[in-house]
Amino acid sequence: MKILVTGGAGFIGSHTLVELNAAGHETVVVDNLCNSDRKALDRVAELVGHEIPFNEVDIRDREGLSHVMEAHHFDACIHFAGLKAVGESVEKPWEYYENNIGGTLVLLDVMRHHGCKNIVFSSSATVYGDPAIIPITEACPKGHCTNPYGQTKSMLEDIMMDMQRADKEWNIVLLRYFNPIGAHPSGRIGENPNGIPNNLMPYVTQVAVGKRPELGVFGDDYPTSDGTGVRDYIHVVDLAKGHVAALKAIERHCGCAIYNLGTGKGYSVLDVVKTFEKVNGIKIPYSIKQRRAGDIATCYSDPTKAEKELGWKAQYGLEEMCRDSWNWQRNNPNGY
Ligand code: NAD
Ligand code: UD1
Repeated sequence: MKILVTGGAGFIGSHTLVELNAAGHETVVVDNLCNSDRKALDRVAELVGHEIPFNEVDIRDREGLSHVMEAHHFDACIHFAGLKAVGESVEKPWEYYENNIGGTLVLLDVMRHHGCKNIVFSSSATVYGDPAIIPITEACPKGHCTNPYGQTKSMLEDIMMDMQRADKEWNIVLLRYFNPIGAHPSGRIGENPNGIPNNLMPYVTQVAVGKRPELGVFGDDYPTSDGTGVRDYIHVVDLAKGHVAALKAIERHCGCAIYNLGTGKGYSVLDVVKTFEKVNGIKIPYSIKQRRAGDIATCYSDPTKAEKELGWKAQYGLEEMCRDSWNWQRNNPNGY
């Protein structure tokens, strides 16, 4: 298939480009580079053996996007472009709603005007809020999102479902990611956060590389095995392959389909720290801090629907995630 990849220069987008090309798909990237580096696409080119056509276009730019859509006949779009920092979204709600919702509305409109009504959307387990059931199935009701970032994901899911209800030509796959970490095993592409990382694994790797003195563990009094928060970490290469599998749902004219992309296993913060230390032979100093506002105790998926319907299952475990995160950070201490 010929795929438009919005946000393709980002962390998950760049890994997905590698897997799409390996599976024989043709890809074209649109990204405004607001949270990524052009070099990521050069590294992807190196890994796949050819250039990836790239357009530095903002998805809110209707004219720019229309030019790209006119120049190509896309079978589907995989839509990663968006802002994703939870804390920043609380500080700048308007910017988050305008970029994520405004941008996606323009994208959907330009797509339908060009007769491309197939989209795979990056959603998040955050839409479950504090989940009503664990492990979380897709039948679990959506919950209350404590921040504007999460709200944009939940609202965009609803918008796309309404559009599909009104126009059955749309095929929409909503992928609810759990916690993507790791990097391509080559160490050539990986996560490249700006400033102080918000998420656990990039913080751990920056401690390991000597950029930060210690990790703060946000709370050790949760009702979990060791008191620290439990999450479903998934290797970004497995997640990327989940997008290739999601195209199968589009090919089958799925209408609207929702899939959790996780491993189904929950690990605590201290499990991650200990596994990282064991696999990489590096000590990660840490101290216990207050709980982080908005955090929940436990969140992990039931991933059986994706396995049954898409034939997709995560292959990598926590050890490989820790190995590959460190391999990327060690080889690229300052990112791209
Ligand atoms: P990322 O920031 O690395 O990638 C997003 C890309 O979108 C960046 O390259 C950025 O420059 C681009 N972008 C942002 N706004 C744009 C706009 N208006 N026009 C064009 N390009 C724009 O983030 P990521 O981790 O690769 O996440 C990809 C998607 O997956 C996002 O939508 C994110 O919300 C979602 N998601 C991520 C996680 C995670 O833990 N990383 C979890 C759940 C969902
Ligand atoms: C966060 C976001 C979520 C988003 C996801 C992926 C919040 C409340 N949620 O999920 O919306 O989809 O990232 O981008 O921010 N931790 C520490 N010390 C740290 C960092 C994290 O102890 O320095 C702990 C957290 O308390 C949590 C676990 O590590 O228990 C994972 O945290 P993180 O990587 O930020 O992911 P989530 O909070 O699950």
